Amino acid sequence: MSNSAIEIVRTVADLRTRISAWRAAGDRIGLIPTMGSLHEGHFSLVAASRAVTDRTCATLFVNPKQFGPNEDFETYPRDEKTDAAALGARGADLLYIPDRDEIYPDGFATAVTVAGIGDKLEGVFRPGFFTGVATVVAKLLLQAAPDDAFFGEKDFQQLCVVRRLTQDLNIPVEIHGCAIVREADGLALSSRNAYLSAPERAIAPTLQQALISFRDKLQDGVAVGDAAEQAREIVLAAGFAKIDYLSLYDPTTFEEAGDLTPGARILAAAWLGTTRLIDNIPAQI
Ligand code: PAF
Repeated sequence: MSNSAIEIVRTVADLRTRISAWRAAGDRIGLIPTMGSLHEGHFSLVAASRAVTDRTCATLFVNPKQFGPNEDFETYPRDEKTDAAALGARGADLLYIPDRDEIYPDGFATAVTVAGIGDKLEGVFRPGFFTGVATVVAKLLLQAAPDDAFFGEKDFQQLCVVRRLTQDLNIPVEIHGCAIVREADGLALSSRNAYLSAPERAIAPTLQQALISFRDKLQDGVAVGDAAEQAREIVLAAGFAKIDYLSLYDPTTFEEAGDLTPGARILAAAWLGTTRLIDNIPAQI
């Protein structure tokens, strides 16, 4: 860890000036898009970038377009100073913090929609979410023009949406998916875990336990439908209020998978009180 203060830029022009200077020096550049409220999951992306690039730029923008009308845009935790200090301490080189007008100036009228996978699962339960994500990620990639960009597998469907959009739009960047970072009890790190009450926090790791039990049952030859049903029962019995989805999915279509196709993923979203948690694991170890 270094202790140097990170440089902050707030405009596309300043971002491009820094990135051009690095490029002129022959540096390989990594980008880490974030909405702030950073935790060890984000810092693992910094480490992944530092391992394969010469310069790491993080972005911090709470993107209004990916929040639904009843979601937590206004209350989403924001702490720019703490995030900047933590990124500097982890050796990131630059932090881009655009304001809303820098990303969506007056008259902004373009949206990037990834049809197909973007319409499934999260796309069903959070209408507009993936169009918001795809639009801002496309903008950030075009503004920074990195060689590599890093996303967590916790948002597995988001990672696949980002891969699809960069291929479809010929954006010349290598997308890296980084493993989920978990608490000691298995809860996947998320900025939204801060919303959990103490009793909810105690229940939360059951989601991952149910996914592991699902995987074990599949390995034992239990049919997908039965294994999914048993996993859902575990989650609801633990005290989760509602499950949006929990099953085995094909990683290219995000359709429910009838059997253990290569790369199949167990994905879940469930409500604990008023907090929605998502998690996923590969179906094969
Ligand atoms: O995963 C996130 O934090 C956001 O969806 C992202 C990729 C930064 C886009 O706003």
